[in-house]
Amino acid sequence: MKTDPEPNPLDKLPSTLKQDLDKNLCTCMDVPKREVIDAIVKGALTLEEVKKQTYAATGAGCCVQQVERLIEYLSAPSPRKRRKGKNKVAEGNRVS
Ligand code: FES
Repeated sequence: MKTDPEPNPLDKLPSTLKQDLDKNLCTCMDVPKREVIDAIVKGALTLEEVKKQTYAATGAGCCVQQVERLIEYLSAPSPRKRRKGKNKVAEGNRVS
């Protein structure tokens, strides 16, 4: 039986937020962006939960907006998958 591959959570992010994943998003607390993303993907869906799990945004607060943007994008529902065969023309009905 075939199963659909696990969706990549990074697909929900705009290209600008996918950059520099291994650089610190939170420079005050030395927390890489990837660590914040992992926490959100694993269920930290509020700023307070991300703070508790990663310590990001617990310094001077300079990265709070970035953390909130990641939460917003990553917690949004995935775009609906196209149903298989929805727009397919059956082999025998093909118009040429
Ligand atoms: S950079 Fe994250 S709290 Fe300052």
